[in-house]
Amino acid sequence: MSIPMLKILQDKKLTPLVDINPDLDNLGTESAFSFGAEVLALEKEKKFPQIYKFHIGDTGPTTPEPIIETAVKALKNKQTKYGHFLGFPQVRENIARHVSELSGVEIKIENVMLEPGGKPAIELALQALVGHDDYVVGQNPGFPIYESLAGFYTRGKYIPWLAGYSVANKAVLEFRVEDLEEIMKSGKKVKLLIINTPQNPTGMVLSEDKLSAIAELAKKYKFMVLFDDIYDRILFGGKKHVSLLSFPGMLDYTINLSGYSKNYAMTGWRLGYVVAPAWLIEIFGRLAVNKWSCVSRVNQIVAGAIFGDVELDGVKYESLKEKLDPLVEKDVAEYEHKGKFLVETLRLLEPYVVPNEVEGAFYDFPNIHAVLELPYVKNELKISSDKDFSRWLLYEKGFAALPGGDFGQAGRGHLRLSYAEDRNKHIIPGVKHFVNIVLELIEKSGLKSPLTVIEAEKRIEELTDKYFQD
Ligand SMILES: Cc1ncc(COP(=O)(O)O)c(C=O)c1O
Repeated sequence: MSIPMLKILQDKKLTPLVDINPDLDNLGTESAFSFGAEVLALEKEKKFPQIYKFHIGDTGPTTPEPIIETAVKALKNKQTKYGHFLGFPQVRENIARHVSELSGVEIKIENVMLEPGGKPAIELALQALVGHDDYVVGQNPGFPIYESLAGFYTRGKYIPWLAGYSVANKAVLEFRVEDLEEIMKSGKKVKLLIINTPQNPTGMVLSEDKLSAIAELAKKYKFMVLFDDIYDRILFGGKKHVSLLSFPGMLDYTINLSGYSKNYAMTGWRLGYVVAPAWLIEIFGRLAVNKWSCVSRVNQIVAGAIFGDVELDGVKYESLKEKLDPLVEKDVAEYEHKGKFLVETLRLLEPYVVPNEVEGAFYDFPNIHAVLELPYVKNELKISSDKDFSRWLLYEKGFAALPGGDFGQAGRGHLRLSYAEDRNKHIIPGVKHFVNIVLELIEKSGLKSPLTVIEAEKRIEELTDKYFQD
């Protein structure tokens, strides 16, 4: 039997010699990487003096110096061989202690495994859990890799937990636990729910009440929860992160994907950890040996030293915790100022652009439905979706932002704006540029602007002073 041509190959006019796995057609991707490559290519063409970068899912700051010094020390000590397949015991002990403190639940070393980045936990969970008739549920909009990999392993049996528009503000999305319960009640065999807080792409946080209700559903309907809190330290307003593990009995139902990429600006190191019931870590360990053998030995030392002392081969690597805490706090404060500045500036464009409140991570997910409805946008520019708009913004205006629809159907009519980049080079001038673009579109549509370009400039200057005093 011949396999139909797979779309991913068809698009590139590539023809395999043999039949390949047809399930690959369910495998999606995250557009952040390919969009990023397009931005770089456009930058080289020098069409614009500068491209304002709001598409980046990477951190603004680079890795704190004490972490780099520990890695250099480990390399100089010739820590170049294989490491432990799960992570050296002392390293896992330090992580277990950290997660215990965070969640108030006793996490043991047998509940912890290191992984190359946070992402691999998604595939580990699916490979370990999903059987033939099982469904997986995940937030929509959400981090696109959940739907991509879950679609692949379930052969399309992925159910989106769709965000709806809030009653209080009809332009702002929210996830309702009642909608989730409807899915669970439907009788479909849901094995795994995937949730993320603080969330990519919205920058919103799932409240303690919602997490508590989700925990109750997990125990009632007996499904596991992949709890992705990789942005757990990037929280605003002095809020304390709430871990799903902290609810009674939830260590038995939780796979906690976490890591160092975002909190410690270590995306390129490929270092993360997963916390789960001991029986699952046993399976994950088996899968890990089959896939990547172990996390690099230097990374293992760093992973442990971030939370406590590590001693390996007679050399002590001192705990970095006290040195890192103030550095992380400084980074988080900068994210918070940039996020609040972005939101308050976008509010000048209401009702055309409606941002959500930023609570954590480094994203906002403004609603741009009314911009897409502008006569000039629809009839002259022939833009009919957030995707078209994102491409027009990039190629005609030098403003890079991902379309909300790339994060799921409920994200259509939104943009994902990352404010991770440098405030002076990108965020302040870039937001100003975006405001002017939208004001021009309103004017060209023959409609009344919420404010003039000059008024906007003055307000943005005031907001710059308000949020960035240094
Ligand atoms: C919600 C979420 N989870 C996981 C990841 C992957 O993290 P890592 O780079 O550590 O694999 C990302 C990266 O953007 C993310 O946004």
